[in-house]
Amino acid sequence: MILIDGKKTSQDIKNEIASRVAEIKAEGGKVPHLAAVLVGNDGASQTYVGAKVKSCEEVGFVSTLVRLEADITEEELLKVVEDINTNPDIDGLIVQLPLPKHISVDKVTNKIKPEKDVDGFTPANVGRMTLNWPAYVAATPYGIVELLKRYQIETAGKHCVVIGRSHIVGSPMSILMARNGYPGNATVTLTHSKTQNLAEICRSADILIVAIGKPEFVTADMVKRGAVVIDVGIHRIEDASKKSGFRLIGDVKFDEVAEKAAAITPVPGGVGPMTIAALLYNTLQSAEKKVFG
Ligand code: GUN
Repeated sequence: MILIDGKKTSQDIKNEIASRVAEIKAEGGKVPHLAAVLVGNDGASQTYVGAKVKSCEEVGFVSTLVRLEADITEEELLKVVEDINTNPDIDGLIVQLPLPKHISVDKVTNKIKPEKDVDGFTPANVGRMTLNWPAYVAATPYGIVELLKRYQIETAGKHCVVIGRSHIVGSPMSILMARNGYPGNATVTLTHSKTQNLAEICRSADILIVAIGKPEFVTADMVKRGAVVIDVGIHRIEDASKKSGFRLIGDVKFDEVAEKAAAITPVPGGVGPMTIAALLYNTLQSAEKKVFG
């Protein structure tokens, strides 16, 4: 069984990005600059944004964190996005989700200039990805694609089953696995809450990508021997034996599934660390004008 090490792979990518930033600096070029907008005081969002800003520092990017009160109006937030859109020094812009309920995520997302949309959430980038044009691909699917590549997982002609159809993970993942390229050329089944015979469909998967958001949902009886299993889930569960009082588990019952899988991502240390590497990579692409020209 191959343990797909997202922690090491993400560090490799960060090292590659840091080398490129050093070259850019030596050439007197423009240092990539990411702006992150955080609305309110959601604990998880603060942690994620903090990690993104710290990673920018690690690779030598400039970063700007814009913190806004939870009661900011939609109009005011749209103005903040517009100001960043038109700021020539900023290459990438992310608005951390979720947003407070009185603000439309769709309106805010659609306000982000596609050329700076390093989260790959705008209709323009989702459309471009679907058409197999150069695009910013959302961090989680991008991170999974990169893991499959770097571990040389064969995908052509394989049956790939994706569990979960979210806009952020399942839906783009299904498109990327089906498209003509590598990784890709798989025969894809996208499953969701209305799918019947899910366990049976999963058992026919050569590649199983699980993004259902339910702790240890996938058990060994749902997995074919020799399958590649990618676990996108991340859940905190109480564990008195840990100093923190909790431990992290995924959407896959790791120990029993690992015995059957040919390759599997752990939680933590699998898909999770790859998402920040993907965001940094997209920001570098933006600074170098590699996607929109
Ligand atoms: N919230 C959870 N995941 C993400 C992400 O990838 N980007 C943003 N902006 N917010 C998120």
